[in-house]
Amino acid sequence: MEKFLIRGGRKLVGTVRVAGAKNAALKLMAASLLADGPIILTNVPKIKDVYTMASVLNRLGGLVDLDYRDQAVIDPSSYSGYEAPYELVSQMRASIIVLGPLLARAGRARVAMPGGCNIGSRKIDLHIRGLEALGADIEVDRGFIDAKARRLVGGPVKLDFPSVGATENVLMAAVLARGATAIENAAREPEIVDLATMLVEMGAKIEGIGTSTIQVEGVDRLSGVTHEVIPDRIEAGTLLTAAAITSGDVTVEGACLDHLEVVVAKLSDAGVKIQATPDGIRAVGRRPILPVDIATLPYPGFPTDMQAQIMALLSLAEGTSVITENIFENRFIVADEFVRMGCDVRIDGHHVVIRGVKAISGVPVKAPDLRGGAGLVLAGLVSDGVTEVSGIHHIDRGYEDLVGKLRAIGADIGRLPDINKVEALDSL
Ligand code: UD1
Repeated sequence: MEKFLIRGGRKLVGTVRVAGAKNAALKLMAASLLADGPIILTNVPKIKDVYTMASVLNRLGGLVDLDYRDQAVIDPSSYSGYEAPYELVSQMRASIIVLGPLLARAGRARVAMPGGCNIGSRKIDLHIRGLEALGADIEVDRGFIDAKARRLVGGPVKLDFPSVGATENVLMAAVLARGATAIENAAREPEIVDLATMLVEMGAKIEGIGTSTIQVEGVDRLSGVTHEVIPDRIEAGTLLTAAAITSGDVTVEGACLDHLEVVVAKLSDAGVKIQATPDGIRAVGRRPILPVDIATLPYPGFPTDMQAQIMALLSLAEGTSVITENIFENRFIVADEFVRMGCDVRIDGHHVVIRGVKAISGVPVKAPDLRGGAGLVLAGLVSDGVTEVSGIHHIDRGYEDLVGKLRAIGADIGRLPDINKVEALDSL
């Protein structure tokens, strides 16, 4: 079983470059189903979820070439299938994002039900109701979402909650539907803006991009395009928090301050010095870490995907912080692992009360999910002794070479069983 080994205590110092955004790249890849020419994506992160999405698209007949640097070249001319099987959807829930574009392209989609996941039940009712509002006929039967539509027809779609995935599925269905669609209470995440921007470059007619009402006028065809994926704001936030927790001084090159306003505001409240640089964001960590209260919310609120990392930081604050999780149930599952490391973290419904402790202990811990895993790595960076993080397949899903990036700025971290390659841990 692969693990990360981290010896805590090193200040992280230096410059590190942020990768392209996972949550944008996956959707941009799925949008190739809508194109009638090649889609070339640049700044694509080399992460497991991207490879899984490539497998989903391969299964549908698409030709995906990920071999050249950070590019994905997708030739949509051979798309022929309409089924995303459980073996792939179960690896990555975001596979359901092919539902809308498949319906638009093929008039048929069979996508395995994603099932539960470690951060809560994550329903799909909003995706289904949104696509039904565009005329799709959808049945959920024997573990599959089975959707059909001769030609989708635009119309009003009101989402009960600004779901990221539902907004994207409906948007990708609407761009090739007949007539006008208005998506109300749409999610406004930067990754949705990136998707809508690429769709416009492909020839789609979309207004209200980045607002909570997205208006679409359907077109008959969309062309191929070359598009650069936006920077990953969650990876950037994680690296800034790594600087903060180690009292380090790290510049995250390529990070976009506009996408991280609330995160950097909360880091500043915690005592971190944040500075915009010509091409990124610099964080200088200081002691004491100050307690901060945080509530996760849809964008532009504090991202739920940064909650575990900030929990690690606040575990060392001088005082008590409260984090309120408003997006996902069960997203405090990592809290038990923090407690094993000596943190004082208590869950009360959808709140977690964090009383700052003086030190974090290096012990074996298990990543319960992607971002929880990142939070444990951050705690490991300041632990007394060696922290062993297992379950790192979760972290590989969404972080490109996290070990390499942290080592480049001074962390003492290595990956087992590649331990022989890890000079810094020779003494272990
Ligand atoms: C996306 C991101 C994920 C991030 C999340 C919230 C991707 C691949 N993943 O996930 O990293 O944490 O946004 O910012 O982009 N819900 C329903 N019914 C639905 C859909 C969602 O009730 O049909 C609920 C979910 O259970 C959850 C909440 O809405 O409680 C938010 O989910 P959503 O915004 O859809 O997140 P994802 O698109 O799955």
